[in-house]
Amino acid sequence: MIPRVIMSGIRPTGTGAAHLGHWEGALKSWVKLQDMGECFYSIVDWHALTTEYQDVKNIQGNVRQVLLDMLSVGIDPEKSVVYLQSAVKEISELFLLLGMMTPLGWLERVPTFKEQQAQLSDRDINTFGFLGYPLLQTVDIVIMKADTVPVGEDQVFHLELAREIVRRFNGLYGDCFPEPQPFLTPIPKLPGVDGRKMSKSYGNAIYLSDAASVVEEKIKPMVTDVRRKRRSDPGVPEDCPAFALHQAYSKAEEIAMVASECRRAGIGCLDCKKILINNINAFLDPFRQRRRRYEKMAVADILETGNRRAAARARETIARVRALMNV
Ligand code: TRP
Ligand code: SF4
Repeated sequence: MIPRVIMSGIRPTGTGAAHLGHWEGALKSWVKLQDMGECFYSIVDWHALTTEYQDVKNIQGNVRQVLLDMLSVGIDPEKSVVYLQSAVKEISELFLLLGMMTPLGWLERVPTFKEQQAQLSDRDINTFGFLGYPLLQTVDIVIMKADTVPVGEDQVFHLELAREIVRRFNGLYGDCFPEPQPFLTPIPKLPGVDGRKMSKSYGNAIYLSDAASVVEEKIKPMVTDVRRKRRSDPGVPEDCPAFALHQAYSKAEEIAMVASECRRAGIGCLDCKKILINNINAFLDPFRQRRRRYEKMAVADILETGNRRAAARARETIARVRALMNV
C-alpha cells in the first residue's frame, strides 16, 4: 500500500529523552516516511497522563526534550506536522464520541492493559483513562485520517483495535475513516549496556542526546561475552551485547574483523569497544549538531505552528463526524 497520510505518536514520559532503541524502533521510519506522504507526528502528553497522573510535574519539560529529540534526528517541521496532542482539543471530543460505540470488551481484551497493570504495580492504573489508552491512540490516528502508522511490534494489537473501531464506525454511520495499517520497522533487538533490552526503565540506554564522553563511559564497562574473562580467552561474538551494537552501527568489514578476532582472542574487548564507541559517536554526531542548532531556536514556535496545522485537520474531521452522528 502506498502511504498517503502518516501518523505516529511519542509519549513524553520517563526521563523524557529518546534513546537508540527509539531510533531503531520508530524514529528512523518517521524520518524516512517524511518524503512519502503527509506526516503528522504527535507528542502525546495526554497519553503520558494515563500512567503518570500522580506525578505530572515533569511532563512539559519532557515535551521540550522529546521535541528536540525529534528535530535532532531529522524530523523536518517544514515537511511534517509536529504537534502536541493536548493542543488539539478536537481529539478529546472524538475520544468521547468514539467511546460511545466502543465495546468495553474490546478494550479489556487489549493485552497491554493487563500486562502494564502488572508491570507498573507500584501505581494504581486501574482507571478509566488507562483502559481508554488504545481508544485515545485510535483517535490520534483517525482524526488525521491517517492510513499508515509507523510503530514498533508492541503496538500491532493497538492498530488492530483501531481498525475494528474504524470498521464499526463506518458501518454504523457511513464511510469516514480509512483503516490504518502499521508500518513496522524490523528492529534488530537492540541491547542496552547491561545486555538486557535497551529501555529507559532499566537505566541501560544510550540516549540520542548523550555527549561523546558519556557514550564512552557507558560502553567501556559494558557487558561482553562471559567467556572472555582474560584477554587470552576466545569469545563468541553472537553472545556479546557489544557485538549486537556493532552489527547496528559498525561497517561490514569491521563487524567481520571483530567477529573473527574475538573468536581467536586476537582482539581485546576494550579495543573492540573503542571501535564501537567511535562508530556510535560518528552516528550520533549529526543529531548532536542539529540539536545544538535547534536548542538556540524558539522551538515552542515550531510546535505552535504544528499545533495549528494539526488542529485544522482535526476540525475538518470532527465536523464530518458530528454530521454523521447527528450531534
Ligand atoms: N502507544 C504508543 C506508544 O506507546 C504511543 C502513541 C500514542 C501512538 N498515540 C499514537 C503511536 C498514535 C502511534 C499512533 O508508543
Ligand atoms: Fe564482545 Fe568484542 Fe569482547 Fe568479543 S571482543 S566479547 S565482540 S566486546
